[in-house]
Amino acid sequence: MITADLVVTNLVELVTCEPTLGDGPLGVIRDGALAAAEGRIVWIGAAADLARDVTLGPSGRRLDGRGRVALPGFVDSHTHLCFAGSREEEYAMRAGGASYQEIAAAGGGILSTVRATRAASVDELVALTRPRLRTVLAHGTTTVEVKSGYGLTTADELKMLEAIRWLGQAQPVEVHATFCGAHEVAPEYRDRTDDYVDLVVHEMLPAVAERGLARYVDVFCEEGVFSVKQSRRILEAGARVGLRAKFHADEFVALGGAELAAQVGALSADHLLRARLDGVAAMAKAGVTATLLPGTAFFLGLPYAPARSFLETGVRVALASDFNPGSSMGPNLPLVMTMAVSQMKMTPEDALLGITLHAAHAMGLEAELGSLRPGKQCDVVLADVPNWRYLSYHYGVNHVSRVIKRGRVVWAR
Ligand code: NIG
Ligand code: FE
Repeated sequence: MITADLVVTNLVELVTCEPTLGDGPLGVIRDGALAAAEGRIVWIGAAADLARDVTLGPSGRRLDGRGRVALPGFVDSHTHLCFAGSREEEYAMRAGGASYQEIAAAGGGILSTVRATRAASVDELVALTRPRLRTVLAHGTTTVEVKSGYGLTTADELKMLEAIRWLGQAQPVEVHATFCGAHEVAPEYRDRTDDYVDLVVHEMLPAVAERGLARYVDVFCEEGVFSVKQSRRILEAGARVGLRAKFHADEFVALGGAELAAQVGALSADHLLRARLDGVAAMAKAGVTATLLPGTAFFLGLPYAPARSFLETGVRVALASDFNPGSSMGPNLPLVMTMAVSQMKMTPEDALLGITLHAAHAMGLEAELGSLRPGKQCDVVLADVPNWRYLSYHYGVNHVSRVIKRGRVVWAR
């Protein structure tokens, strides 16, 4: 007999994202149940077998799923959700024909958010960001990656990362920080990009590492921002201080970011709107996850990444929100799945894996989360839908009714 402190029953479908545990590529168990102890899953199976295998401890909780669908907590592996200010005027300008790059070149874009973020204190950043994490949680996201990159001085990058660390301790969504000091060239270093790269490598990275403020290192490898050579320098310097690479690659121009990701053994290369297929094939070989951000293409009005061709190379595809004030002001991962299916022609199965198990891979956390099986964290979303496909099929509606993080109900409608 297994002793549990949480049992969830009465689930019309339990989507494990582990093909060996149920039907189809998502391992769906009809009329399923699960049990957890101390925040980890200890048993999963058909409700009819629960009483045979599991007892509920004295202070345990039995949660009636009321015929809902249970899924792994969603993992958002690429966000910039810690920022001050907002950029709704750029959104309007793009409707008038201006491009993201034109707006950035005119001093708007990332640098506009940098001005606002530099002017904010740690406390102000925490206060601005906390409600965003609440919204993310309400849409089923239980783990999120959050980048710095709106400070662009050592002190302001550390300030952002301190705010991100606070946020991870102050609310239920699990937060992992990325140092993205190379998000843009600081205005003080205009036309001196190599000098800025020196600052990132020799001052920022050691300061971040010494304080243990980040798990990953990111760089905006893009024409007019950081070249492949400069990006490689930063990613390799990050690796030397223990930060895994996951970075912005081939978003607007096919610069060779995908190839670089394969060469440096990145966890993930993200965006890839313009990536060459050879580069993506090299990523597949090197085990690098391709993280696609359809919300950004949608919001900027750009063509979507050719996800089907990518999948044919055998690369693992994750989906993320890219939640940020400029290119994708949206936190809703089920809506991202809808875009993936209707615009990129991914199967609904691949789309769901994209925001669960494959996103966990993009963060190097696949041993801990991203699917429901004994030993993993008990991070579960209950959705008020007839079957799991409805989650993205019936779009623009929040179907999430309860969210469980590490075995505790942390959000309920
Ligand atoms: O992922 N491409 C660079 N970074 C973001 C945009 C951030 C911003 O515009 O503030 C992106 O699209
Ligand atoms: Fe981004």
